[in-house]
Formats: sequence, structure tokens, C-alpha cells
Amino acid sequence: VKDPRIDGIKTKIRVVPDFPKKGIMFQDITTLLLDPKAFKDTIDLFVERYRHMNISVVAEARGFIFGVPIALAIGAKFVPLRKPKKLPGEIIFEEYELEYGSDRLEMHVEAVDSGDRALVVDDLIATGGTLCAAMNLLRRVGAEVVECACVIELPELNGRERLEGKALYVLVEYQ
Ligand code: PRP
Repeated sequence: VKDPRIDGIKTKIRVVPDFPKKGIMFQDITTLLLDPKAFKDTIDLFVERYRHMNISVVAEARGFIFGVPIALAIGAKFVPLRKPKKLPGEIIFEEYELEYGSDRLEMHVEAVDSGDRALVVDDLIATGGTLCAAMNLLRRVGAEVVECACVIELPELNGRERLEGKALYVLVEYQ
């Protein structure tokens, strides 16, 4: 049964045609953040799902809007996965493909322990490249990735296939 809060969240995500370039239907979550009720419902839905799953670390790439409040609410540490040259400690990195060229995510090695149970959060899954790189970083230091969680999935891009069967929890799908 679908949670009644989902429709309210969906209506607050603004879809902008042809941004940042022609043919792209941009999913803009900044309008969701402007609505405290819908924003709180979003965080609550994740927190209700993960609070009793023994998650010890929440990791998110680049924008940390959703992962941080989830981590605080479930009592897990938060680990930012950042673009190059932002983290001062010892790091490991993963490179991943973008539509044009490639990008890289870095993680502090000492932030995650082997045996940590990880939740990987992002606002959106498109090709799955970002989540895939994030999962690889966590696994390389011995963490178990329990699940990935996104506000929005673009199912047409088949990002799920990149996750190799890892569970993905999504609130809203866009066609
Ligand atoms: C968006 C979004 C995710 C990523 C998902 O970031 O915030 O982090 O794309 O895409 P993927 O599943 O294909 O990896 P952004 O708008 O910065 O796009 P970019 O990662 O392509 O730069």
C-alpha cells in the first residue's frame, strides 16, 4: 500500500523541461525543500524505514541534504563523499562515467570501519553511476552496504541494473 505522504512529496518536485540542456526533464528538489511539511515527510519516510535496521553509517555524495537529517534521526554517523581535493585526511577514490567524461568521488578512509552497516543516500538515481561508486568506496573499507535510498528514480535509465541486485528504496518514480 502506498503511503499517502508520497503524493504530496511528488507534487512538490518541480520538473523543468530542457534543463540544463535540450531533451532533459530536470527533477528539481529545491521546490520540495521549500515546503517544510513535504520535506519533513520525505525525511520521516526514510527514518521510519531505517531506524530499526542497525544502520551505523549514512553516506551521501556531493549534496548532503537528505542524508544528514536521516543520519541524525537514526543515530548513525554521516560520511560525506566529496568531489576531488575537498577532504584533508587519507582518502580513497572511485572514478565513474558521466554522460560526457568522468567524475570522481573521494572518501576519508578512517571515517568508516570494517563491520559498519551502511545506508547510501542520494536525491536521485539516473544511470546509477553515483550510487555504484559510493557503494564501492564503502565496501573497499569493509563496510556492508545494507541498502541504497533515493527520493527520485528515473526508471528509463535502468540505474537499478548497475546496483547488481543491491536493494534500492525509492519514494517517487518519474517516467
Ligand atoms: C545528480 C544527482 C545524483 C546523480 C545521479 O547529480 O544528484 O547525484 O545526478 O545520477 P547517476 O545515477 O546517473 O549517477 P548532478 O545533477 O550533479 O549530476 P551529475 O552527477 O551527472 O553531475
